[in-house]
Amino acid sequence: MAKIITLDGPAGAGKSSTARQLAARLGWCYMDTGAMYRAVALAALNRGVSLTDQLKLAALAGVLGISFSEGRVLLDGEDVSAEIRTERITTATRPVADAPPVREAMKQLQRRMAEELNVVTEGRDQGSVVFPGAALKIFLEASPEERAHRRHRQQTNQAGPAATVEEILQAQTRRDEGDRARPVGAMRAAEDAIVLNTDGLSLEEVVERIFTLAQSRGLAATPEPSPSEMP
Ligand code: C5P
Repeated sequence: MAKIITLDGPAGAGKSSTARQLAARLGWCYMDTGAMYRAVALAALNRGVSLTDQLKLAALAGVLGISFSEGRVLLDGEDVSAEIRTERITTATRPVADAPPVREAMKQLQRRMAEELNVVTEGRDQGSVVFPGAALKIFLEASPEERAHRRHRQQTNQAGPAATVEEILQAQTRRDEGDRARPVGAMRAAEDAIVLNTDGLSLEEVVERIFTLAQSRGLAATPEPSPSEMP
């Protein structure tokens, strides 16, 4: 049976980089469910589907071809990785992700995608709603200030700072509130999730901790003891 590790938590906690590296280290697939909601929003805008028509949005989510290939996000075969990260799509994704019928369609799709593959999946509701039986559930946290600083550094490294840390912090607080208040699929740690605060930890340290947890649950090969460690 396929094995699942879920990684949930707020924006900027480092979920994507962690999930990607962890999946690579385990030799598993990586599923970015935020990108999936973003792809539905992009398709809705492209096809003129109203962002307030929840049933039409859900029908659209049910027929779209969303896939991941070599770190890229494909929508009906087209690489939309860059476009789904624009501010326009981030804003349009909110009502899409809030719509209960869309969430139901996405839950079915995410479960189908993980049916036959070992998957590290990342989002807000993966451990609490979509994969309640996952072998390992992690909820990544970091303080709002640290998350805002990380995002600011990321933007500076990419195209120069588009917003100040204070502006990022404000937008982030709004997103967090929206994620927590969503009537269906609200962001929360599953009861059996391990909460990991990443303040002051490097990406490598976070990946190492989760990898060790995966090993302790028999999800990853445990290294043979070296001869000097043998009795
Ligand atoms: O993580 P990311 O910022 O790409 O997520 C995009 C949007 O999708 C956010 O509004 C987030 O709240 C939503 N989302 C969700 N459920 C998930 C993953 C993301 O509602 N499992």
